[in-house]
Amino acid sequence: MTPKTGPFPRPPARAIPRLMTQRLTIRRPDDWHLHLRDGAMLKAVLPQTVAHFSRAIIMPNLVPPVVTMADAMAYRERILAAAPGVGLFEPLMTLYLTEDTDPEDVAAAHGSGLVKAVKLYPAGATTNSASGVRDFDKVRPVLEKMAEIGMPLCVHGEVTTPEVDIFDREAVFIDTVLDPLRRATPGLRVVMEHITTADAVAYLQDGNDDLGATITTHHLMINRNHMLVGGIRPHYYCLPIVKREKHREALVDLATSGFSRCFLGTDSAPHLATDKQSPCGCAGVFSAPVTMSCLAEVFEEAGALDKLESFASLNGPAFYRLPANEATITLAKGEPAGVPPQIETENGPVVVFDPGRPLHWHVEDEL
Ligand code: NCD
Ligand code: ZN
Repeated sequence: MTPKTGPFPRPPARAIPRLMTQRLTIRRPDDWHLHLRDGAMLKAVLPQTVAHFSRAIIMPNLVPPVVTMADAMAYRERILAAAPGVGLFEPLMTLYLTEDTDPEDVAAAHGSGLVKAVKLYPAGATTNSASGVRDFDKVRPVLEKMAEIGMPLCVHGEVTTPEVDIFDREAVFIDTVLDPLRRATPGLRVVMEHITTADAVAYLQDGNDDLGATITTHHLMINRNHMLVGGIRPHYYCLPIVKREKHREALVDLATSGFSRCFLGTDSAPHLATDKQSPCGCAGVFSAPVTMSCLAEVFEEAGALDKLESFASLNGPAFYRLPANEATITLAKGEPAGVPPQIETENGPVVVFDPGRPLHWHVEDEL
């Protein structure tokens, strides 16, 4: 038996020259699924992303949501005003799809070049998704317009029917909603967001060039045992919920294979510690500050450090038909450094994702 040195069995070390494992320079990464919130929270969390990432797809699930082009423009201005180095970070805006969304407003938003995608939340699927879609026929004209103009639809892929077990919500969504929706709208470009199952991996691999997927940092590192065995860990609770180990392994295999239609979307989703450590704690893992350290660890363990750049910096821009970043980032390996346990906001702390294992890599040249 392979001895276990951490929560997961480690594969035998590959014969990579030692120096190559100590420092890794890649194009600057982007985050293709990020929650920045607004106000005091935005101010506190934005620097954590700007430090390592050039661009991010900004989720629109504010209260009230970012629905129209005008909402997105106003939110973009608030983000730029809160960014420590304006010009160094580019927020890529999204619109929250509702049953009242106007296809012409979507087309105008896309034409501005500042709004890159529309986000589909099935009503009630996750944090702040009450205005999401119930009747897919009502959004058909918007989806057809998006197929025509080549604008991606980012999909939170979970059914919300109470009869479906929470661990099955993603697989059922693929069969009963996503596949019929894609067949009914040929040419619609779809991002399966934060995939969590081997079922999603298989569906993605079978798909054509119009289908992409993001994977989060935490779904590559933790399974449901980590969340539930030996005590319940509210900071591992997110949606889609973490699944069995075999699903985590399928995600790691896909991400580290270099498969071109899968890319990083951290789904870094900050909530105040008090809101998570509560009798009804909210869903979301705040991973932006540690994502690059975590990914280097996961890719190194898989013997695939050479694929980290594809996953974090190349595949996403290619899917969104944008150039990769010219700037680079350098990760260095050393003694495990403790991660900052939390960041402070005006309203209280936000706990940073702790994968429960040492992190040897850090970003040397963060902004
Ligand atoms: C996200 C949030 O907090 O906004 N939560 C989460 O668990 N991922 C919403 C989402 O992306 O589902
Ligand atoms: Zn999210």
